[in-house]
Amino acid sequence: MANHKLWGGRFEASLEDWVEEFGASIGFDYRLAPYDLQGSLAHVKMLGQTGILTQEEAKAIEEGLGTLLARYQAGTLAFDVGNEDIHMNIESLLTQEIGSVAGKLHTARSRNDQVATDMHLYLKDQLQQIGQKLWHLRQVLVTIAEEHVETIMPGYTHLQHAQPISLAHHLLAYYQMFTRDSQRFAFNMEHTDLSPLGAAALAGTTFPIDRELTANLMGFKGVYHNSLDAVSDRDFILEFLSNCSILIMHLSRLCEELIHWCSYEYGFVSLSDTFSTGSSIMPQKKNPDMAELIRGKSGRIYGHLMGLLTIMKSLPLAYNKDLQEDKEGMFDTVDTIKKSLDIMAGMLSTMTVHSDRMLASTQGDFSNATELADYLAKKGLPFREAHEIVGKLVLECSKSGFYLQDIPFSRYQKLSPLIEEDIYQVLQSHTAVQKRNSLGGTGFEQISLELERAKQDLGTL
Ligand code: ARG
Repeated sequence: MANHKLWGGRFEASLEDWVEEFGASIGFDYRLAPYDLQGSLAHVKMLGQTGILTQEEAKAIEEGLGTLLARYQAGTLAFDVGNEDIHMNIESLLTQEIGSVAGKLHTARSRNDQVATDMHLYLKDQLQQIGQKLWHLRQVLVTIAEEHVETIMPGYTHLQHAQPISLAHHLLAYYQMFTRDSQRFAFNMEHTDLSPLGAAALAGTTFPIDRELTANLMGFKGVYHNSLDAVSDRDFILEFLSNCSILIMHLSRLCEELIHWCSYEYGFVSLSDTFSTGSSIMPQKKNPDMAELIRGKSGRIYGHLMGLLTIMKSLPLAYNKDLQEDKEGMFDTVDTIKKSLDIMAGMLSTMTVHSDRMLASTQGDFSNATELADYLAKKGLPFREAHEIVGKLVLECSKSGFYLQDIPFSRYQKLSPLIEEDIYQVLQSHTAVQKRNSLGGTGFEQISLELERAKQDLGTL
């Protein structure tokens, strides 16, 4: 039989152990302990300052909470499943610490606003940490991009060689994605940086509480303005899961490319040994496991988003126990995204780029066909006609094993009198990249501007 519950007054019989275990959240919400203590400290200070509790009572509780915080930091707080969740565990530990005055802490408060407060404090903290990790990853991308402005590689559409581009341009595309991710998290912070504390169970309280004071003490920028919404809103977590889903989708795309790039067929990069694994049977293998894992972990984050959306979709106002299911997915998403960001930054900053292989790959292909068509169009030929002529030439070349830069000048002259000797310069992939200086293009000047902007944004200029 379980011990007496903090809510046990109106009950004649106790929960059976296995039922109690089903309802308990302490197995995972113990992670909220420091935030729960922080929230309780703010609450009791406010109870003291507003005269709801006497100065002595408030002081005794504050000191008791301080002791629990120290014990938490020392790793000596033990929780009990019989106390269901982190809130009741802490209240029970506080009672052991300071006696029955602990029972006054819960005045003008409910676990409903308490758990919401904990989640807001927790996620605020995590959003800050994730923001820093994202900043670091963006910085790594910019650093590598700076070294590879003139590293020429094939640009792809349909995974077919399309036009040559700069590796820096390719990396800066991911920089843009991760910048948008940061912006999304910053917006997410606006909705997270609000205090639900004082909404009480659902309707507010008759005690003369000061919600602004507790919000201030906890470092929140504002408060929820509707008590029903305050205790039942989980949009800030949904936004977080959605933002993380988009972020891990970006990470996954980059991983997919790295996996291709380090394959034998591409040979564009080598990942460091410290981010690769071997095979238990094939001695030659060096596998990009970490990149594959990030790609794979996108599944669980999408799953957590779908999970919470489903939990929320039919919930009547205000608190329902279903909401206890909001935590594990969020915790797992936080852990997964933080580790994935670290791994990605580490993997990128330690990889070796094989610029020669990248360049060579743009020399044994037809990715300069657009250059020839544009060349003719610039000399007055309608682009459609130029496209047709070059298409036919590519067909002829691929049948006879030539590339456009190998065609003798006499053949070009026969093709069109518009073609002059400078065509060979034009057909070089380096030239093709250099000249694409339309706004946002892969041209070196555009990349330099883009790098400046990025560094300005990162605050590293
Ligand atoms: N463990 C609960 C949760 O995570 C705390 C709130 C419980 N409130 C209640 N009325 N049962 O949601």
